[in-house]
Amino acid sequence: MIKQRLDEYRTPIEEVLQNCLQEEGVPGELLESMSYSLQAGGKRIRPVLCLAWAELLGQKREKVLWFCTSLELIHTYSLIHDDLPAMDNDDLRRGKPSNHIRFGEAAAILAGDGLLTRAFSMMLQTDLSPGAVLQAAAQISRAAGPAGMVGGQVLDMVLTGNNKKELEDLKEMHSLKTGAMIKSSCLAGAILAGGSQDDLLRAGEYGASLGLAFQVADDILDITGDQTKLGKPVGSDQARDKLTYPALLGLDESRTLGLEMVARAVRAIEPYSGDRADFLKDLARYIMDRVE
Ligand code: IPE
Ligand code: IPE
Ligand code: MG
Ligand code: MG
Ligand code: MG
Repeated sequence: MIKQRLDEYRTPIEEVLQNCLQEEGVPGELLESMSYSLQAGGKRIRPVLCLAWAELLGQKREKVLWFCTSLELIHTYSLIHDDLPAMDNDDLRRGKPSNHIRFGEAAAILAGDGLLTRAFSMMLQTDLSPGAVLQAAAQISRAAGPAGMVGGQVLDMVLTGNNKKELEDLKEMHSLKTGAMIKSSCLAGAILAGGSQDDLLRAGEYGASLGLAFQVADDILDITGDQTKLGKPVGSDQARDKLTYPALLGLDESRTLGLEMVARAVRAIEPYSGDRADFLKDLARYIMDRVE
């Protein structure tokens, strides 16, 4: 049921993903490597969240579709770089050889750079009031940058193989490397819909809780998951001595914590009703139930 409803959001997103790299002047080799990772599948959770929040608050889908889809370009760039030998050194992504395995490291770095910068040019193509677009783009740039995902990836590196393993460090790393983009995807949707201060607070609360649950589930799936369903290697975190929730707290406590975060996200949606609110509640529950 949730899969079907997710597809209602994903289908138009996939269509934009097919078209958004067809800019004039992109060298063929670069287009090939960027498309390779972008078209390889993926759950498309970040653009779905952005679109779902914008529609919950009354915005029209066609007005925000390109902006929301741009978040998937940022996310895909982060996965290409995350898999590089200098980082997690993983050979499989979205069920296919990682970008650097297929195209080489230099091409993979540049495919990531291309996706990141193209994302921002897509955001600025949004035909809404410039104030709202600027505010939403500023939100995303902060979340993707040094005070967000990039900072979180650095903490991930610093904490790998390190003896200093504290819950506070883990929380900070997760909230930056994964939470920031997920929270901002929700917030950007709310901003583009012209949401009130209360709406933005709720979108932020929902997204922050979901973001943490999302990475807790990712850490659990690295132990209990099935490589064919996940499309990426299982056991990679343990092999690299990564600081993860299950490594620090064990599987059961991690699951309990993830479910608490999901419950918190669901509570943040309570003030809203209707089909779209129900979808966001079900999506929150799916985050901890997922097997992919
Ligand atoms: C994986 O993200 C990396 C994390 C931030 C946990 P996803 O689980 O969203 O990966 P795809 O996009 O579905 O491949
Ligand atoms: C990556 O976290 C988070 C990013 C910002 C890309 P992981 O390293 O756990 O993601 P996977 O498990 O490789 O997808
Ligand atoms: Mg990583
Ligand atoms: Mg990784
Ligand atoms: Mg992981």
